[in-house]
Parts: sequence; C-alpha cells; structure tokens
Amino acid sequence: PKQGGDPEAAAHRYVLPEDFFFGAAMSGPQTEGAWCVGGKLENLWDTWSNEDLGAFYNRVGSYAGNDFMARYREDLALMASLGLTTWRTSIQWSRLLTLDGSINPEGAAWYHELFRASHEAGLECFVNLYHFDMPTYLFRRGGWESREVVEAYAHYAELAFREFGDEVLHWFTFNEPTVEPEMRYQEGVWYPKLRDFGRARGVQYHISLAHSLAVRTFRRLQQAGEIRSDAKIGLINAFNPTYTKDDPSEADLEAVRMVGGINNRWWLDLVTAGKLPADVVKTLEDRGVCLPTRPGDEEILAEGVVDWLGCNYYQPRRVQAPQAATDERGHLRLSDDYHWPQARINKSRGWEIYPEGLYDFGLYIRDNYPGLTWFVSENGMGVMHEESNRDAEGVIADSYRIEFVRDHLVCLARAIEEGSPCLGYHYWGLIDNWSWANAYKNRYGFVEVDLGASYERRPKRSAAWLAEVAQTHRIV
Ligand code: BG6
Repeated sequence: PKQGGDPEAAAHRYVLPEDFFFGAAMSGPQTEGAWCVGGKLENLWDTWSNEDLGAFYNRVGSYAGNDFMARYREDLALMASLGLTTWRTSIQWSRLLTLDGSINPEGAAWYHELFRASHEAGLECFVNLYHFDMPTYLFRRGGWESREVVEAYAHYAELAFREFGDEVLHWFTFNEPTVEPEMRYQEGVWYPKLRDFGRARGVQYHISLAHSLAVRTFRRLQQAGEIRSDAKIGLINAFNPTYTKDDPSEADLEAVRMVGGINNRWWLDLVTAGKLPADVVKTLEDRGVCLPTRPGDEEILAEGVVDWLGCNYYQPRRVQAPQAATDERGHLRLSDDYHWPQARINKSRGWEIYPEGLYDFGLYIRDNYPGLTWFVSENGMGVMHEESNRDAEGVIADSYRIEFVRDHLVCLARAIEEGSPCLGYHYWGLIDNWSWANAYKNRYGFVEVDLGASYERRPKRSAAWLAEVAQTHRIV
C-alpha cells in the first residue's frame, strides 16, 4: 500500500458509525488457566512450561493464564460495564477433545457455560478454534507438518461446530496463521525453536488446507441445519502493511512483494478466491521451496472462502532487499528489516507505533478485495508493568494507552469514511493476560491483573476513557 495517510486530516475525524462494534479479544490458552483440570490434555505451551520453565519471563508458565476460568463472570460483567458488546476467545482443542478424538464432556460443559454466561451478560462471543495451541500428542505425530494432523483439526472443527452450532454466531478457524510457522519453525523463538524457512512454508500450507476443510464442513453443517443459519465464519490474521525505502531498488520492491505476499496476500487470496497467490508460490518454487501439495488440494483450498475477515494490527513491516540470498544455514532469505529513521518505537515491546498502517490496510482492502468486510480483531499496546506510573490512589495512570488507541481509531475512522467496510474494533488484552514466552512481561490491559493478589482485577485510569468511546462512538 501507499505509505502514510494524512495525519493532518486524521485529526478532524472523531466519530465512528453508529452500528460499529467495540469489544475485546483474548484466547483460551492465555486466560483460562486450569491447564490440567477437567480432562484437559497438554498443549505445547504446557509441555514447554513443564520442560523448560526458564524459557518464560520470570519463570511464569502457561498454567494459570489470568485465572479466567474462575473469574469469567466477573470479567464478562466488567466488559459489559465498559460498554463493550462483543468479545472473542478461543476454544482449546486440548480441552474440548480427548486423546481418542471424542468430546471431553467436562470441557464441553465449560464452554457451554461460558457462552451462556456471555449471552446473559449481553455480550456476543466470537469463537476462534485455534490460537497457537497445538495439543502435544498431535505435535508428537508431526504437528502441522503432518497430513494426519490436518485431518485431526478438521475433525475437531466439525465436533466443535456440532456441539456449539446453535449457540455461536461468529466462528473463526485460526488466529494469525503465519505467526506460528514463523515463531516455531522459522525464527527459532517458540518451542521447538526451529530455523527453517522451507519447513515453515510447509506448515503454512497445511494450515491453509486445515482452514479450508473447516470452512467446507461449516457450510455443509449449516446447510443441513446443524449450525444456526445466521452464523458466519472467518479467519483472523496479523496483517502487516509492508513498506520499503522511499527510493527503492527493484530488489527492495521484490522483498516487499514476497514478504507482503507470504504474510498478507496468501491469506487474503485464500479467503476471497479460494487459492494461494500464484506469483508467491512460483517464486518459492524457483527458489527451491516446494509446498507439500497433493492431487485434490486445489479443490480443498477452493472451499476456504469466508464470510468476513479479522485483522490484527500492531505494527507495519519495513523491509529491504536481503544482503545475502541465504542465511548461515543455507535457508532462503527474502528480506532484511529496514530501519525507518522516523519510526516511533514502543520501547517496552520493541514494536513500531504506526497508526497510519491501519488506514493504509483499510484502503488496501477496499481497493483490492472489494466485497470483503472486516474488523480490527486485535490492536493494543503492551507496556512493561514495571514502567507503569501509579497516581495518588495507586491506580495505573496509562495515558500512553489512551493515546495509542485514539490514534489508531482516528486512522480507522478515516478509512471507513473513505469507503473501507470495517465493522468493529476489538482491543487485545482488555484485562492483562499471559503472553506466550513473554508471560506477564508486557501488559496490554485497560484492567490490571495483580499477580501478587490472586489475579485480582483493577481498572487502570484508561478504562473510563475506553468506556466513553465505546458508548458514544466519539473518539475523544
Ligand atoms: C497477537 C496474538 O500476536 O499478539 C496474541 O494473537 C498476543 O496472542 C498478542 O498475545 C500480543 O503479542 P505479545 O507477544 O506481546 O503477547
């Protein structure tokens, strides 16, 4: 997309449409806790915590989440009191199914109870099926590198649709399906810490098949009346508008094409046209990365077209041509990071703050994927809790969080006004939660979780601001 947006103009847009929804996003593995209770199996986060607790910030493993299973009624009431109308969580595969792939009654009972409580609180619950939480026994059978696991996911999705089909209105197949391949298989950050670009693309391809199989099943069950007729299915990805230098070389532009192609277009083409971007697949092949395709796959991918899209937006990507065509292990390199001199960085998280990227993404969707409606499914600011200022009453005074969200909403309002069909906004981490290897290092919440006081919740100063915006739709 074109870089920027017009900050001058942005300052004059203050109102979001009347039917625009505000909500909050979270995930099962980051909040529920009760990691081995009620028949829940281990997922990779539990296994990694058990094997190497030192890998997690302050040695806080996956076990407790933010105690949501004990506090869900309180949390739902809190969301409703702030004026939110929707929220998202994920079902944990490892809680819903048993080892033999049948429904775990205790797990199912918890999710029924949760969805009922959400309904009673006046909140629409968006349900995602997979949030980086591969059950460990399936990882041992090859994880996303195995066709057997793709089939197991399709089976899991089918059982979830059948179990909750008359309760859930908004379904999502995956959260950020490029991030898991990158973090686990390419960048060596998450267990099992592999660094292999080609394997990561194979995983990405298998997730694409798994997504498409789930959508196919969803449509069939809906036609058969087993899923409510007004239910919708979507995909959530972290979309990173991809930029390069102001005076790019051909090779810089090529880096943008491939990085944006793998992260953004791959999923956008799949969910709108039921195919992967041919130019991206061809370049991968030319560079020696062959996807694990089989006859019949094209027909499966063709079923992957969704009803709408969730966009997680935290920061843009800035790339330039790679210095070398391969890394030290001989794996393909498509780009190097480009350090934009004007970049504003959230020093806690190391991520660039660039609200204009949301405006650019909105117009990109409008212009390149007409008819595709979308919503901001995550956006948020993680700050080291040690940095938080407290006022005289001991409440965290987080003006930076207000500024961050306000700036993003203003850019979003501009994109909507210029015709981008964005229907709502979910803030990530309304209530502080556990965040993968970073555990509780970066706090996103408008509501503090006190780890020293049994996970007690305390609204931060910013919460009142969020409530006002959510209830008036005016970006104050
Ligand atoms: C998104 C994920 O990538 O960003 C969330 O969907 C995650 O699960 C969030 O927590 C914030 O990232 P982090 O690493 O700071 O927790």
